Amino acid sequence: MELNQVCLRTLKFKDEPWSFENYCSLGGYSAWRKIIENKTRPGEIIEEVKLSCLRGRGGAGFPTGLKWSFMPRNAPGAKYIVCNSDEGEPGTCKDRDIMRYNPHQLVEGLLIACYCVGAESAYNYIRGEFMLPFERVEKAIEEARAQNLLGKNILGSDISIEVYNHLGAGAYICGEETALLNSMEGKKGQPRFKPPFPANHGLYGRPTNVNNTETYASVPPILEHGGQWFLDMGIPNNGGTKIFSVTGDVAKPGNFEVPLGTPFTKLLELAGGVQGNKKIKAVIPGGSSCKILTGEEMLACTMDYDSVANAGSMLGSGAVMVLDETRCMVEVLYRLLEFYDEESCGQCTPCREGSGWVTRITKSILDGTAKMEDIDLLVDVANKVEGHTICVFGEAFAWPIQSYVAKFRHEFEAYIQPVKKPTKKSETISE
Ligand SMILES: Cc1cc2nc3c(=O)[nH]c(=O)nc-3n(C[C@H](O)[C@H](O)[C@H](O)COP(=O)(O)O)c2cc1C
Repeated sequence: MELNQVCLRTLKFKDEPWSFENYCSLGGYSAWRKIIENKTRPGEIIEEVKLSCLRGRGGAGFPTGLKWSFMPRNAPGAKYIVCNSDEGEPGTCKDRDIMRYNPHQLVEGLLIACYCVGAESAYNYIRGEFMLPFERVEKAIEEARAQNLLGKNILGSDISIEVYNHLGAGAYICGEETALLNSMEGKKGQPRFKPPFPANHGLYGRPTNVNNTETYASVPPILEHGGQWFLDMGIPNNGGTKIFSVTGDVAKPGNFEVPLGTPFTKLLELAGGVQGNKKIKAVIPGGSSCKILTGEEMLACTMDYDSVANAGSMLGSGAVMVLDETRCMVEVLYRLLEFYDEESCGQCTPCREGSGWVTRITKSILDGTAKMEDIDLLVDVANKVEGHTICVFGEAFAWPIQSYVAKFRHEFEAYIQPVKKPTKKSETISE
């Protein structure tokens, strides 16, 4: 596992993996020092990031180098780098580990990103509950400052950059990048209309680049070893390694950093296989808002953006939830919908009303009070939410509904006209 690790590489140290000394002993801050000493052109760095095929680790997988190139570097006035450490997508638990165990790599990534886009401030928006990650990044900032790697006139140059942590207050929607910016400005954490995009009108109306924690933390090793090195670790169009948070019915749940393109079967093996040697019924491949894949579909996938997209879902944030043959898919869907109903920010009517409506329909199916046509009604509401909201929160609960019903319709029907009524809640329902 140690081989090929990028973002969790300091975990090889048993003692204080987060320390400045441990990070530097792996080459930490050498990329940043070189940039300052050689006055590397920002365009050259962006080209290297483009070559690496680093894709955003927050969910959508957008090419990072391309995103950085959208920033109007030479425009006068303030520009900002914002790091999305909100990590709200159910099942995802990787960014907190980067901040806990390798905070300096994130700080170095933020400094390099600031340099590239001409920003003097980086803000790391951390989920409110993440006290230890917050403390570790705070300490890393102070250690970097003590070495003049951050702050005023870095290493004697005319470059000055500050990094600040900002604690959120525990709302899932604040992980959506424009809701995050509103939250940072002290406004209600609700998404903004796009365009304009943050690259032109972001934090305080200024050009802003938003990336995920893992995305920024991947950058220093790319510049240390070269974009081609990173690309070669993965597969074409999917550079590098990615941390997968594997949970659900596996024997050893946890975070596993593997090269993109790794077969799902290999990842499953690292997570100890399916608990109790049961069969896989289904897998949520990239966080709860992704479309579900059947066990068969998932077993044929490799863990990269393209393979999972070709199978009809998304690699998303890399939160892989394994469901074994005993899971009731109606119960699983209901559990997720309760979450989305609770977390809808209420700004858009289809999402605010729709999230409650679909939750109530699913509950009525579970309670045995629904009619057969309610299954179609459930999908109909989901279809009417999809594409009709300011942000993709609407899709985040529409996609699970559409895919669960499409692939496991018989389980929904069984609650209404049961061929064999389940006696226990989580018992498999036969067709
Ligand atoms: C409802 C919602 C929640 C999101 N939550 C997160 C999150 O917790 N962390 C994150 O990095 N991105 C999250 N995103 C995606 C961000 O909006 C944005 O695409 C991402 O931070 C961009 O970074 P990347 O290009 O490095 O992936 C969320 C999006 C939506 C619609």
